[in-house]
Amino acid sequence: MDNAVAKTVIDIAPDQLPSHIGVIMDGNGRWAQARGKHRSDGHRAGVEALRRLVTCAVEFEIKYLTVFSFSSENWRRPQDEINTILGLMKKFVASDIGTFAKNNVRIRILGSRKGLNSSVLKMIQEAEERTTQCTGLQLNIAFNYGARAEILDATIDIAERVARGELKTQDIDEDVMSRALYTGGLPDPDIIFRTSGEQRLSNFLLWQSAYSEFVFSQEFWPDFSRSSFLDLLHTFATRKRRFGNIE
Ligand code: IPE
Ligand code: IPE
Ligand code: MG
Repeated sequence: MDNAVAKTVIDIAPDQLPSHIGVIMDGNGRWAQARGKHRSDGHRAGVEALRRLVTCAVEFEIKYLTVFSFSSENWRRPQDEINTILGLMKKFVASDIGTFAKNNVRIRILGSRKGLNSSVLKMIQEAEERTTQCTGLQLNIAFNYGARAEILDATIDIAERVARGELKTQDIDEDVMSRALYTGGLPDPDIIFRTSGEQRLSNFLLWQSAYSEFVFSQEFWPDFSRSSFLDLLHTFATRKRRFGNIE
């Protein structure tokens, strides 16, 4: 992430900007393959693209950015690729945490903590603690994240509160459910953006995306640029959201 964040004027009214953007950063492997490189080179280039995205989100004063960095299904990949991705993630958080804090970026890691090794858990804890006072962009990193597991975990949590007598069944509503998810306290994403040409959610924010705008681009994640971000903002500004109502 750049230290100096430049201000740019764009022709989009502030009320047409999204406050929460969700990004499925897909296509690292194919980007590398297309260049005759190893998949790990694609993941490294993907981290650079993530830095560009965070810089853009800070510049345009986006309030919440949620990036899908590793899904609960990505454990199915070969162990050496998993190690590369985990290593890059730890390096990214360690090397950029100072810049995040300086740019007032608050980090939150979304996902299941079950079964994570102690070095990963330590990295998560440090990242969250060091930026806990930050009030600018909130960067949520979905790691070991799967939306079905999230909904299941929330359901278990609610059932246990009912069993303990802390909550009545008739008081369970959408708000109780939303707050019990890993994303509890966050507004729903206005946009879900996915690169690489795939048009699916792959178990990302299933509950939260009920009224999100979906934007898909053909470029592979490592090619994501500031101009891709501006395209995304312009596309969102043209969407008419009705939430079931009429205009
Ligand atoms: C996204 O790129 C990164 C992760 C899922 C961790 P991929 O690794 O899925 O790249 P492709 O889709 O195989 O090209
Ligand atoms: C989704 O991408 C997960 C991340 C971007 C972290 P995948 O590459 O894992 O999704 P599928 O397997 O193509 O659906
Ligand atoms: Mg993929």
